[in-house]
Amino acid sequence: MFITFEGIDGSGKSTQIELLARRLEMQKHEVLIVREPGGTQISERIRDLLLDMRHGEMNAHTELLLFSASRSQLVIERIIPALRRGTVVIADRFHDSTTAYQGYGRGLDITAIDHVHAMATHGLMPDLSVFLDIPIEESLRRRDDRSGQRDRMESADHAFFERVQNGYRFIASTSPARFRVIDGTPPADDVAETIWGWVVAGLEKASV
Ligand code: TYD
Repeated sequence: MFITFEGIDGSGKSTQIELLARRLEMQKHEVLIVREPGGTQISERIRDLLLDMRHGEMNAHTELLLFSASRSQLVIERIIPALRRGTVVIADRFHDSTTAYQGYGRGLDITAIDHVHAMATHGLMPDLSVFLDIPIEESLRRRDDRSGQRDRMESADHAFFERVQNGYRFIASTSPARFRVIDGTPPADDVAETIWGWVVAGLEKASV
């Protein structure tokens, strides 16, 4: 089973992924967690290029192709082999991030992006995508609470994140069979409980 987590920065994806992985492992499932961009030697180098604050001149098409190149390598090198072994793969972001950030956020053509997805994902689609929906203000507050410097993507303005957030809401609404949307503001354990219900249902469906 292939599960992806989506949401704006600070939506609580990493916490939820950890909680879900622990629970799956308690039930004797093999679990692989990958984060995008990154996850292979080549993809991690692409990640450095993408997030480096010194690359302010990077244009939106370059950004799209680099995120997609990172994904292509990750899918072939790690995700598909793991799925073939029967491992549950959890991805911290996948192709919907590109549609939300480079499509709705940067304004690139969505149809063109879909063509790039077909190449970058090698046709692999998530079985379940969880969208953690939190208000932009909460996202900014959580991010400011974290130590460390902002990366190139995080330094975008408020209007950009608003477009990304609305983009996610639209994407989720157009793929109701795959997407589950949850308010990411309640306590993490409550959010995790709801997500667990969806994953169990997905696993049951996959086993019939
Ligand atoms: P990361 O530090 O992994 O952020 P997060 O913890 O929020 O996932 O940085 C990834 C950044 O890249 C994040 O701001 C979202 C952005 N991004 C895109 O713009 N397009 C993409 O296709 C992906 C995968 C990420």
